[in-house]
Amino acid sequence: MASVSYENVTKRYSGDTLAVDNLSLEVKDTEFMVLVGPSGCGKSTALRMLAGLEDITEGQIKIGDKVVNDMPPRDRDIAMVFQSYALYPHMSVYDNMAFGLKMRGTPRADIERRVNTAADVLELGPLLKRKPRQLSGGQRQRVALGRAIVREPQVFLLDEPLSNLDAKLRVQTRIELQKQHRALHATFIYVTHDQVEAMTMGDRIAVMRDGVLQQVAPPREIYGNPANMYVAGFIGSPTMNFIPVTVQGKTAKASGFELELPHAPGVEKGTLGIRPEALTEAPVAGHAGLDLKVEVVEILGSDQFLYGTVGGDSITARVDPHLKVQPGDRVRLGVDTRRLHLFDSATEKAVL
Ligand SMILES: Nc1ncnc2c1ncn2[C@@H]1O[C@H](COP(=O)(O)OP(=O)(O)OP(=O)(O)O)[C@@H](O)[C@H]1O
Ligand SMILES: [Mg+2]
Repeated sequence: MASVSYENVTKRYSGDTLAVDNLSLEVKDTEFMVLVGPSGCGKSTALRMLAGLEDITEGQIKIGDKVVNDMPPRDRDIAMVFQSYALYPHMSVYDNMAFGLKMRGTPRADIERRVNTAADVLELGPLLKRKPRQLSGGQRQRVALGRAIVREPQVFLLDEPLSNLDAKLRVQTRIELQKQHRALHATFIYVTHDQVEAMTMGDRIAVMRDGVLQQVAPPREIYGNPANMYVAGFIGSPTMNFIPVTVQGKTAKASGFELELPHAPGVEKGTLGIRPEALTEAPVAGHAGLDLKVEVVEILGSDQFLYGTVGGDSITARVDPHLKVQPGDRVRLGVDTRRLHLFDSATEKAVL
């Protein structure tokens, strides 16, 4: 059993920083869980408490059914990969991977088997004799991962392991990591501030803000049914359009348009949430439309983003890249009202 559970876990650093605030989170055996949120929201602290590198102020953490609050790090059967992977510069790739096992007194034959298996999996075989300085960033990152794999831990903790890589390599390594996760049958907890990494890698995503867990759900659910405005705005690029509205029954009125909601949300003031792709260049039969005054056009090849205003509100739309639009144009857009979100102005919670 290598499930992990945080039960009402709080971390207060000296100086009274509340880094993690009453976190309850269950990570299932062999699950790939991503912790995501902006810098300083407590992601690393949450991982470091699980690894035993930080004390827990309140609450408890379990690995399987064992409470590990007071268990020394080396007994936790966890391996951690950090952003700064600090390989030993004077040691070969092989020795870098073998070092931790040697320190633990693992038999030599066993070390050899484990390092060679990990090297095979990570395609590091031909590089085993090299020193870290003779490797590319991506190769070094794989060695760091290899160092964790040879430990054969039940739980892998990865703290922004890809942030030192360039964009292309990040994508490759992201895919590599997903393959590894499947092959290793281990539990992965992966920390990132990058919502694309979270969406693409996680079986489930846990979104954090200021030490407080906002929502835990599979990527589709997080994207399609965000629990509050924070999650809605954090996940998705370009970000969801937020438009202040007054609501009467089922009718939502913005400064420049109004539309019928699928049902009455039971609030009078709210913020309408429209994903850029829920605005379509062809008005949808039976659905509302709005007139976008286009200010900026971005063509990305596969996508075209229109940035502009409707009444007093800024709006971004994702449209067919073949549609010819220029700044200054007015474009009639349809709104797919099945994909609308509405957030209560007072609580910022989703009410639709
Ligand atoms: N050793 C420490 N002593 C005091 N405060 C700390 C310590 N480590 C972190 N903090 C504070 O705790 C909060 C959470 O930090 P943490 O490193 O967990 O954030 P993070 O989500 O990992 O951010 P990042 O994305 O920048 O790595 C921050 O306000 C940070 O300044
Ligand atoms: Mg961090």
